[in-house]
Amino acid sequence: MVLGPGGREHAIIRALLADPEVEQVHCAPGNAGIAQIVPVHAVDANDPAAATGLARELGADLVVVGPEAPLVAGVADALREAGFPVFGPSRAAARLEGSKAFAKEVMAAAGVPTAMARVATTEAEAADALDGFGAPYVVKDDGLAAGKGVVVTADRAEALAHAAACFAAGGSVVIEEYLDGPEVSLFVLTDGTRVIPLSPAQDFKRIFDGDEGPNTGGMGAYTPLPWLPDGFVDEVVERVARPTVDEMRRRGTPFVGVLYCGLAVTRRGLRVIEFNARFGDPETQAVLARLATPLGRLLLDAATGRLDEAERLRWRPESAVAVVVAAQDYPGTPRTGDPIGGLEAAEALEDVHVVHAGTAVAPDGEHAGRVVSAGGRVLAVVALGAGLDQARERAYRGVELVALEGSQHRTDIALKASRGQVDLPTVSNSAPRQEQA
Ligand code: AMP
Ligand code: GLY
Repeated sequence: MVLGPGGREHAIIRALLADPEVEQVHCAPGNAGIAQIVPVHAVDANDPAAATGLARELGADLVVVGPEAPLVAGVADALREAGFPVFGPSRAAARLEGSKAFAKEVMAAAGVPTAMARVATTEAEAADALDGFGAPYVVKDDGLAAGKGVVVTADRAEALAHAAACFAAGGSVVIEEYLDGPEVSLFVLTDGTRVIPLSPAQDFKRIFDGDEGPNTGGMGAYTPLPWLPDGFVDEVVERVARPTVDEMRRRGTPFVGVLYCGLAVTRRGLRVIEFNARFGDPETQAVLARLATPLGRLLLDAATGRLDEAERLRWRPESAVAVVVAAQDYPGTPRTGDPIGGLEAAEALEDVHVVHAGTAVAPDGEHAGRVVSAGGRVLAVVALGAGLDQARERAYRGVELVALEGSQHRTDIALKASRGQVDLPTVSNSAPRQEQA
């Protein structure tokens, strides 16, 4: 049983269905694309009692929790208490994503390299922290905000205004030192003790080409990353994932599921930007397109404390690119209810598939029975290719076939990487040691 409504869950379900050991998959609540491939259930995935009730009804052998909201609501705890193997952390462990201040505290305790940060609860504290770190300013809402609670700006007034808005909503903020250098998303599967990294990916957070405009949940992704230094994944496992998993276990709140390490490759070396307690969206759409190891067994082993670190995951040799098609006005309030055309034509392209996110089948009205837009990020076109160039070309051919009025997409997903133009900052060794920690 897979819980969640989005593209990540559609991608997970596609991979589960490709695992010969998986007999049946069910989803709640799903979307129009998921409903085309497995039974969906109109159950509130964020409600622990409702999710547990559905798992009982289905006799689920494994529950995979997709998004952060049910994790933070304690859905995994309720399911585990009821005896189900669950891929996804407890409410206590999901605080690594649910509270940025908590994540910073765990990283400090575990010696994990991250941006220097201060928590502020008043405008005076915020102003003081901003001036302490200097521009560019980084201000983060302390709670969950679907990737949209972070403001990175050179404008001090804008940074202060974001902090003030968070205080007005009853929250606090984390103000950080700015991290230069490209970002990497690395997903690490864990059973609470052992860790297995997946293939690193890069996400595109801003709405417009050239990383302009506001932050979104993610507008596209690609994998693998040809520009990463050798040994990068091992370094993240040993300096970030393993110490964090060990620290969570030591605290009596083991982290079981996928630890999403959001990283920056900076002048001073590797830094954690954020942790998430679940797979990334849309990175998962690209990463799972390349995974050749059956997913069901892996997730079950993580859920039941039986991950085998010696297992080498198998990856298809191709590159994967995922391009998100978003609704008009996203990341503001998106326009919804518009019919989506061209889906079959896109899927008919070689090595191309469409992963649905915010889609629904219109129950009535003008478009009754048709697939319509129902969220900000509507779908992703995912393509495999012999290299990033070919994967890009195929994905964009698919995007051109998708017809959705007012839709937006970035045209530069994986473009720099395909041209060898991702710049790694020159590593400086002059930084004092405590800043490395
Ligand atoms: P987060 O929600 O913490 O992942 O932040 C969202 C996005 O804001 C990240 O993916 C980065 O692009 C950007 N960001 C967050 N923290 C920093 C930082 N300390 N320095 C530079 N950019 C950041
Ligand atoms: N793509 C960013 C995230 O899933 O948080």
